[in-house]
Amino acid sequence: MHEIVPGLVYAPGYLSREEQDELVADLREAVKQAPLFTPRMPRTGKEFSVRMTNCGALGWVSDRERGYRYQATHPETGAPWSPMPRLALRVWDDLSPYKHPPEACLVNFYEASARMGLHQDRDEEDFDAPVVSLSLGDSCLFRIGGTERKSSTKSFKLHSGDAMMLTGPARLAFHGVDRIMGGTSTLLPQGGRLNLTLRRVTKA
Ligand code: SIN
Ligand code: MN
Repeated sequence: MHEIVPGLVYAPGYLSREEQDELVADLREAVKQAPLFTPRMPRTGKEFSVRMTNCGALGWVSDRERGYRYQATHPETGAPWSPMPRLALRVWDDLSPYKHPPEACLVNFYEASARMGLHQDRDEEDFDAPVVSLSLGDSCLFRIGGTERKSSTKSFKLHSGDAMMLTGPARLAFHGVDRIMGGTSTLLPQGGRLNLTLRRVTKA
């Protein structure tokens, strides 16, 4: 494990191939109950290039009218989210210094052309809780900056099975995904990248 910038803990190759397969199998079940949806930007209504779903009691959603938020139900079906995958909870227990369990696991699916602009994760109540990330499938170029949009940034690659945590001085750092490197993994037969982020939403 190493710190790429203060507070960004990077654990390359954290999950074995068997564990990655188990997580993908759990996510295949999860999307049967809570299908991937395309979120939209607040106000403009512009579509994100990633598709999303969530696992856990709460899920992160965004639409034109009500903006970024967490809610207990899928925005299109109204059904509850799927249970948190076993391995996701284990990774939080292993890596996170925060005593209370995560409440949301945002699942982002990136096709080869998808990306995610620089943003902060700040819709949670307690920034003492880290955000823990797991990457599956194709590699990506991930970008991390500081707590201001104009701060300088660094990029590095995230590969299938890597874990990462944003905590302390990096908890509110701007971050994003510049591009997906298509064809770099055999984990997902159709290609693409899955990213799971585990979040504590409410103050414990
Ligand atoms: C996110 O910031 O929500 C996702 C980051 C990633 O895909 O690695
Ligand atoms: Mn984020």
